Amino acid sequence: MKLVKLLANLGYGSRKQVQGMFREGLVTDAEGEVLYADDVVAHEAIRVEGEPLDPPQGLTLMLHKPRGYTCSTKDKGRLIYDLLPPRYRDRAPVLSSVGRLDRDTSGLLLMTDDGALLHRIVSPKSRLDKAYEVTLAEDLRGDEAARFASGTLLLESDDKPLLPAELEVRSPREAELVLHEGRYHQVRRMFAAVGNHVEALHRSRVGGLALGGLGEGQWRMLDAADLDTLFNVP
Ligand code: URA
Repeated sequence: MKLVKLLANLGYGSRKQVQGMFREGLVTDAEGEVLYADDVVAHEAIRVEGEPLDPPQGLTLMLHKPRGYTCSTKDKGRLIYDLLPPRYRDRAPVLSSVGRLDRDTSGLLLMTDDGALLHRIVSPKSRLDKAYEVTLAEDLRGDEAARFASGTLLLESDDKPLLPAELEVRSPREAELVLHEGRYHQVRRMFAAVGNHVEALHRSRVGGLALGGLGEGQWRMLDAADLDTLFNVP
């Protein structure tokens, strides 16, 4: 791929802006030799203003999403992209979240520009369960775990009952819920269906992958070993 297209695809600017960067001599190789728009150079040898180029396509990362951020490229208010290097919002192919977390949900969010990987993660065949820590407005009644595990709970405006889900009660108003599917506002709607209200919601795990020590608002790239961990579901 021509360098000018590569840099534009990585979000460094429009083609015109990137052409300008070449004219100004801002794009060099590792030795500082100026590169030209038509040069063909290995990705890892390219520097922009002396800095290594952003990762090529295949970028996959894990973000510890804080509450108050929306999973969108252009909503009003704070966006998950505000937590990443600014160029990541403008990459092509697009770097998108794998599914969504509500604005007021915190926790583990995967993002990738690899469409095949995204489909593999969300495919039911991969059987990647998701664990949520839930804080409730009302004390649990005691029948919720059985109702969630029943496989017969039908949420309002759905036409198919939910798959069985596991609820582990931690305290009268705190629990962990493990889901094997992902429906719109699922956790909040499940607790509404049993007469409660979710006050705080946090996703702690997707498949075999947990946040580890990643702090709120922080992110890190995932490598092949992380993806093995993600898909390694017992
Ligand atoms: N279920 C919800 O209700 N919200 C989320 O963000 C994720 C799962």
